[in-house]
Amino acid sequence: MGQGVLSPAFTREGDVVCCEGVSLPRLADAVGTPAYVYSASAIRTQYRTLADALGRVPHRIHYSVKANGNLAILRLLRELGAGVDIVSGGELYRARRAGYQGPEIVFSGVGKTGGEIADALRAGVRLINVESESELAVVEAEAARLGVQAPIALRVNPEIEVSSPHAYIKTGERGTKFGIGYDQARQVALRSRGLPHLRLLGLDMHLGSQIPDVAPYVAALARLLELYRHLVADGFRDLRYLDVGGGLAVSYDGERAADAAAFGAMVSDAVEPTGLTLIVEPGRYIVGNAGVLVTRVLYRKQTGGKTYVITDAGMTDFLRPSHYSAYHRIESAARAPVWARSTVDVVGPVCESGDFFAVDRELTDVAAGDLLVIYSAGAYGFVMASNYNARPRPAEVLVEGGRFAVVSERETYDDLVRHEPSTLAWRDG
Ligand code: LLP
Repeated sequence: MGQGVLSPAFTREGDVVCCEGVSLPRLADAVGTPAYVYSASAIRTQYRTLADALGRVPHRIHYSVKANGNLAILRLLRELGAGVDIVSGGELYRARRAGYQGPEIVFSGVGKTGGEIADALRAGVRLINVESESELAVVEAEAARLGVQAPIALRVNPEIEVSSPHAYIKTGERGTKFGIGYDQARQVALRSRGLPHLRLLGLDMHLGSQIPDVAPYVAALARLLELYRHLVADGFRDLRYLDVGGGLAVSYDGERAADAAAFGAMVSDAVEPTGLTLIVEPGRYIVGNAGVLVTRVLYRKQTGGKTYVITDAGMTDFLRPSHYSAYHRIESAARAPVWARSTVDVVGPVCESGDFFAVDRELTDVAAGDLLVIYSAGAYGFVMASNYNARPRPAEVLVEGGRFAVVSERETYDDLVRHEPSTLAWRDG
């Protein structure tokens, strides 16, 4: 085990890993494996820490549904006062099913369809974060058709370097597909003024994900506020929101996480003089370390000078190690970490060499039937699962104060073929 506690909700009691006092081996016996397990108290703690840190300025926390969109988690966060940040019609549907009302929703995303925009307008979302001049025209057309004024913000690319651990999760640098280029933003704002069904209410940015430092936010905010001042001088009177996106880092192996207090102090200092309402869109920070993936060892084998531990979870259940070379701590769920250890690859059953959770990792010796806990799997875990190799997606379980409930049933084989008709409805071409 590396240094530092990833989340106090997961503890070792005797030899056994527990979540809020619930034994993970016992939970796994009850619900099967693989299973995602989330701690309600860990989610609450993260939410409150961030809310406290932002307390000084008018602010809204819009949880980024893409990190973990389970309805039970969305409901739990709504009870705490969160809004949501969505990026698709499907996430809009989820958010509404979880009880979120239009004004509690911000709609982001680089490729919204006309239909999704119309649904969002009908739902009365607080803001649509527009990412291009062509999107502006689509929002105008949909709003005109519905006879409403669309509340919009412009997502501006501040073109700032960030030190994110993987290129795939950087978004705020020059040349990415995201947002409106900084140099074009004022023009796009002026263009929105000529479109009668749009109302420009704010500016928005999102720098990327897993950002531990405050410095990129400071630099990017300065750019956004400079643009804001130009727009005020241009006569924009309705600007009231500054959305700084998500991106706050969590610790995966004891490395430095984002410091909510430092982040809060910095954004408050920058935003307070403007009187704007701050919006933040955290995903990973809220749920990343509130969840683990529990998987059972199927086989242990030695081949080509290596030892493989083969688990019943694969890249179809949890993609991060394979897709981003992401490091996730892995521990035996039921044996003390002082047990004999050896260097192994922890791999899944999928027919891909990229199907791994850890490569050349020193791990407590485990055998077939033992349980492993893959930590920090609460964000971008289940939501990125697939059915490749016709593998049903795993169960999700929420633990709260010594109890647990399945919040998403393990898929069945029937689920896998549900949308494939046995009799084909041919149509003339
Ligand atoms: N807002 C927008 C517009 C976003 O695109 C994202 C994430 C967020 C907020 C939330 O970012 P967070 O606070 O979670 O860093 N699948 C990748 C992460 C992709 C993040 C995409 N955008 C991973 O597993 O690392």
